[in-house]
Amino acid sequence: MISRSTVDAVFEAARVEEVIGDFVQLKKSGSNYKGLSPFSDERSPSFMVSPVKQIWKDFSSGKGGNAVSFIMEHEHFTFPEAIKWLAKRYGIEVEETEQTDEQKQVQDDKESMYLVATFAAKWFHEQLQTELGSAVGNSYFKERGFTDETIAYFQLGYSPDEWTALTDAALQAGYSIDYLDRTGLSIVKEDNKKFDRFKGRVMFPIRSHSGRVLGFGGRILVADKKAAKYLNSPQSDIYDKSKVLYGIYEAKQAIAKEDLCYLVEGYTDVIQLHQAGVKNVVSSSGTALTTDQIRLIARLTNNITVLYDGDAAGMRAAIRGIDLILEAGMNVRVCTFPEGEDPDSFAKLHTQLEIETFLKDQAVDFINFKSGLLKDEAAGDPIKKAGMIREIVTTISKIPDPISREVYIRETASILDIGEEVLFSSLAQMRNATDTEERKKDIKKQQEKSLTKVEDQAGSAPVDRREVLESTIIKILLLYGDKIADFEEEFLQESEDGELVAEPVKMTVPVYEKIYLDLQGDEIEFSNPRFKSLYPKLIDIMLLSGKIDVNLIMTELTDEEAAMIADLIMGEDRYQLHRWDEKQIFVKTKEDTVAVYVMDTILNFRRLMIQEKIKALSNELTTNEAADSMDILSQVKDHLNLQKYLGSRLNRVV
Ligand code: CTP
Ligand code: MN
Repeated sequence: MISRSTVDAVFEAARVEEVIGDFVQLKKSGSNYKGLSPFSDERSPSFMVSPVKQIWKDFSSGKGGNAVSFIMEHEHFTFPEAIKWLAKRYGIEVEETEQTDEQKQVQDDKESMYLVATFAAKWFHEQLQTELGSAVGNSYFKERGFTDETIAYFQLGYSPDEWTALTDAALQAGYSIDYLDRTGLSIVKEDNKKFDRFKGRVMFPIRSHSGRVLGFGGRILVADKKAAKYLNSPQSDIYDKSKVLYGIYEAKQAIAKEDLCYLVEGYTDVIQLHQAGVKNVVSSSGTALTTDQIRLIARLTNNITVLYDGDAAGMRAAIRGIDLILEAGMNVRVCTFPEGEDPDSFAKLHTQLEIETFLKDQAVDFINFKSGLLKDEAAGDPIKKAGMIREIVTTISKIPDPISREVYIRETASILDIGEEVLFSSLAQMRNATDTEERKKDIKKQQEKSLTKVEDQAGSAPVDRREVLESTIIKILLLYGDKIADFEEEFLQESEDGELVAEPVKMTVPVYEKIYLDLQGDEIEFSNPRFKSLYPKLIDIMLLSGKIDVNLIMTELTDEEAAMIADLIMGEDRYQLHRWDEKQIFVKTKEDTVAVYVMDTILNFRRLMIQEKIKALSNELTTNEAADSMDILSQVKDHLNLQKYLGSRLNRVV
């Protein structure tokens, strides 16, 4: 965790106009600066920076904030990542709190490995300028059609065909053999003989989301049956191939802007498309796509289009990938290339417009892709056709969102010309199986927990559900607290015959006010001690200033709270919400989304409270004297009524 004093030092040192000036050309305009929005393609500047107030505002996208939030938005960093980036920019040493000596050692080791990897990338790149490197490495890239600009942008390089060229250079520059060994750049034999792993290969450095060199891919120059075409860095403390995507650093801006990510197979596919002007592209580089990789993309967009070459291996990889992407709740399309072509060869021969048109026309949703794939095979064979339909429904059953599942089932029914009911019932069977699995897992988790942790009070709901709701409320406050939204409230009145009747009322207030009033009205108290102390502080700040001011919030909080906030904001909820809006099913406008989210959380919170109350009352009933049992019974009845009412409201909201 980053220490409070580091965070403070960064806030103090970072000048919003300097930080933004690194990315946007700013022109003085009165007491402010003006520039072209980095978040949209605009021609006339609507991006304003105020050095006096130390804030920025982008009128084209509606975004705004301070230096830290700019870096978070622009680089798609989490809060801690942004603090670290700014600390580096201003030469502030990042102090980590609560680290044991062992953790510190690991941290230092990793730091040393990053340094040697960065050195190597630079050195490999420089080799392209040497006589031999130019004749061999550079001309190879030129032959593939890469321009100097592209070679520099991806920091491509050349590892000379000598046994210890890099190892010697690194040792001479003061790097230790230990870290060369641990990053896999050098191979150290038992007899202490060392040599370069990537000898005689052209080099593709693999960078992290934030641009650090983690590892390398090295391609052989001559076709050689005995040697692998590509050699990659081995797994290490800094390189985990299942957690990186080649090109993510170079592509992230474009992925967010286009709200779409193209996923290809190889290094050269990424580079060639990028050079042609299609920049929202990454590659899983020779490994089957993993959920960690999908998560990296999910930070930037919900939409993935998989591009694969038409061979059997590529197709299998694409199919596996589709299910994983859908399971992650994202939208997936598939684009097939003509026989014998891959994105690399195609991009090399076509213009940006041609490529973009092709991708747009050719990309199909996964149902069309799968049914197209299987249709020929199944033609005239009912057994095969049934199998194929089942396979498609299986894929659909993996989608977490029920509304999307329904839409896809209808789509499948119409494409394959088969009754919806059959598909729905088959889906229900499959979901039952997954749901039971999930429920079993939940129960097991609960049991494991209750072995180590006694529940607070007999009859109270498991602490977990409450905690989730409490943390959601904190998150909502942090992300959307100052958003003004329209809330459809219902005021309850008791009718003559004792029924509860709802009267609709609309109110337009900031989110924090709605939450504050509702929770106060219900006398809801937080149970988690950390949320309990954080909540009133956040509310106070917002009531006082009327907005979410990160600076102010950070200075009002303890270390632990500040760190917790960073963790919470870091989460994926922003994207979840984003997803709600895409579906546009129960949400009319963007502002509505927030209102729905808030109402859903509050209503769930109320329902939970009522459940607890009913349980407590029933307990009382069994232990109490007959005298007041009538009274308790009528209280239970009231609460059950309320519960029913809340249930029906929730159904209407979600
Ligand atoms: N790959 C690998 N090891 C190999 C072969 C391939 O790691 N022995 C990975 C590389 O990341 C490569 C990707 O799988 O980029 C796709 O493989 P392939 O289609 O064979 O490579 P291309 O990118 O087409 O390579 P090139 O165009 O350079 O021949
Ligand atoms: Mn290729």
